Amino acid sequence: MTNGLNILVVGSGAREHALASKISESPRCAHLHVTPGNAGTPGTRHAVPATDIDGIIALCNTNRVSLVVVGPEAPLAAGLVDALLAAGIAAFGPTQALARLESDKSHARNIAHTLNMPSPRFASFTQGNEAEALAWWKNFGANIVVKQSGLAGGKGVVVPNSTDETTLAIREAIAVGDIVLEERLIGTECSLIAVSDGKTSVAFPLAQDHKRIGEGDTGLNTGGMGAYAPAPVQFSADELHGMFITPVINHFASAGTPFTGALFAGIMLTANGPRLLEYNCRFGDPEAQVLLSLLESDIVDLLVACTTGSLKPTHLSIREGSALGVVLASSNYPNTPRTGDIITNLPSTNPMCSVFHGGTEIQNGSLVTAGGRVLTCVGVGATLEEARTHAYATASRISFDGVQMRRDIAWRAPGATIKSYASTGVDIDEGTRAVDLIKASITKTATSQVLRGVGAFGGALDVSFLKEFDHPVLVGSTDGVGTKVELAARTGRIRGTGHDIVNHCVNDVLVQRAYPLFFLDYLASSHLNADNVAEVVGGMADACAAAGCVLLGGETAEMPGVYAEGAFDIAGTLVGVAEREQLLPLPTIAAGDVLIGVASNGPHTNGYSYLRKLFAWIPMESQPVPLDRPLVEALLEPHRNYLPVLKHALDTELVKALVHITGGGLPENMPRVLPKGIGANINLGSWPMPPLFQLVSELSTLDTDELYRTLNMGVGMVVIVAPEHVQAVQKSIPEDTWIIGELTNNHNKVLLK
Ligand code: AMP
Ligand code: GLY
Repeated sequence: MTNGLNILVVGSGAREHALASKISESPRCAHLHVTPGNAGTPGTRHAVPATDIDGIIALCNTNRVSLVVVGPEAPLAAGLVDALLAAGIAAFGPTQALARLESDKSHARNIAHTLNMPSPRFASFTQGNEAEALAWWKNFGANIVVKQSGLAGGKGVVVPNSTDETTLAIREAIAVGDIVLEERLIGTECSLIAVSDGKTSVAFPLAQDHKRIGEGDTGLNTGGMGAYAPAPVQFSADELHGMFITPVINHFASAGTPFTGALFAGIMLTANGPRLLEYNCRFGDPEAQVLLSLLESDIVDLLVACTTGSLKPTHLSIREGSALGVVLASSNYPNTPRTGDIITNLPSTNPMCSVFHGGTEIQNGSLVTAGGRVLTCVGVGATLEEARTHAYATASRISFDGVQMRRDIAWRAPGATIKSYASTGVDIDEGTRAVDLIKASITKTATSQVLRGVGAFGGALDVSFLKEFDHPVLVGSTDGVGTKVELAARTGRIRGTGHDIVNHCVNDVLVQRAYPLFFLDYLASSHLNADNVAEVVGGMADACAAAGCVLLGGETAEMPGVYAEGAFDIAGTLVGVAEREQLLPLPTIAAGDVLIGVASNGPHTNGYSYLRKLFAWIPMESQPVPLDRPLVEALLEPHRNYLPVLKHALDTELVKALVHITGGGLPENMPRVLPKGIGANINLGSWPMPPLFQLVSELSTLDTDELYRTLNMGVGMVVIVAPEHVQAVQKSIPEDTWIIGELTNNHNKVLLK
């Protein structure tokens, strides 16, 4: 093992910043040098340009540099590595001849062709041979891509969309140099980067670059606006490594010109399989920033192993998790970028997000933009989502005039990872099982009048019996169970909520003296569990059967991300029928009429937001005085159905109005039936307060009005009758009732006395 190396990184982009950062963290680096670097690169910065070969050799000699890592393609193509090797300095990167794999696309295509590499069909043309190139394309008869054969900084490829664009692209490209025309492929792209010591190669995870300037992969090609890894594609890095890298490394090894350094295959995953787009002879930018953020092993060990022919797979170990990098580019990039804009709000280092500098400089003490791609923010995390959050949290804070940042880095990843609708939290099979389970309980509410029931798009009920009515009126009501469902879900006692919703609706139409015809339910949950659905709908079916109502249909919705995990919600609609002449309330309501209170059997479906807070710190199974049963039972007692209780009273034709005490309690519900100018006095203490409400009164500091507005306090229905009919009506109700007040001329005011 060599210890304490003086290492030089050549280049000035964010890729070189990432390389330099990793190297500076290694105990094997004695002194780090960078040329020309940027305002963010660690180590000693030198001003020798990356392609100044003599200058770099001199720099190495002066500083006793024994390993040079070449970042960009231009110095490789210019022969920097050849000169370093000749000077006895180890270099990470291929020689000039081998770098032609990148610097000469025509050469690369020919080698790939010789090696039977899966590739697009192509042809090469030398500068000026326009007629030949155009003729080939005409004969080719399909869409093509036009590429300059030489280096063009990621901007030498045109993907034309029309005949005119293609002709123009060929003419322009061939006027300036050699070109390659290729079959235009369609598919997802990925970047495979491997490092090699000339004999062996090991690959990094697959990355995905975002080459276009615009979100949704639109607009001009750039060097790369963001990348992430590992990219979830249908091939593993090992498979693609075997297809596109190993044959090339073997080829050069057996030719006696081993390839040392990073070999990067740009691959398109087409419907017919993976195809080679291009080779690069270096790390990608921005791929390097994300891949090196995932590197766990010592980078100097890795680089030295490559330059000494001792590379083993163990030299490249990658941490669990993902990395995502987003590039901040300057105004007018990828055309001539504007420079000199002051960069502010650069965050301090954060273990979950690194900021790598690209085109940055210090000018008059300020950090300013000095190139097209200015910064790359790389987030890491256990998942890609986490990595993305960290990257954008940092990137969106940094600012400089004209900043361009794509907000969609990794936008293709969700589509590539979601393998079933069920994995997004919606389980259609479970929904089908739920419907099967509820069918049986619903069938017991069906009559011969049901023509289409559960499972049909819409329920159908034959109502020809309405012909028997003198003047049938349909009365409909929709309601929900409210936050009582939270308590029910939490305590696992959900069946009663099915009774709650049906009975609530039954009572709402009963106050019009309508009798239930059919009910439709809606059940929504974060996560659908067929057994729970069956339980709740079973409760609804029981309540419907008891009310003589058909459960005609409903909807079960699974809505992850809308409802909290484990939560559910219930609503329903009931339609009843009344004789028009019997509709309540009657117009004869007058001051002096008497209020008969009928008991509630709990809070029914109102006041639960308050009750859940009131009893937040006591176990639900406990039974504080004066309760006669556990708290949870008292609270979850289902809403009662007043139809059987009041049927005979209604038949006496003496009832002037019914008032269902729901949300708003006695003070808010009484006025709903009172004619203009009529008020009511309610005599507190005129009915026995049930134990739960006694306990609430004891604990509560709400004032009386507020308390009676929040809860029914023991009266669930009020019957309004003329004073002379009180006795007869009370007698027709088969349970204890109480005279709780009377109507007044007090201008719609309800007074609690
Ligand atoms: P290259 O520098 O050769 O990788 O080309 C730059 C970009 O042009 C690629 O990332 C692709 O998006 C696109 N491209 C290159 N070659 C093809 C091809 N044969 N078919 C379709 N798109 C291509
Ligand atoms: N990001 C692509 C490249 O470095 O060529």
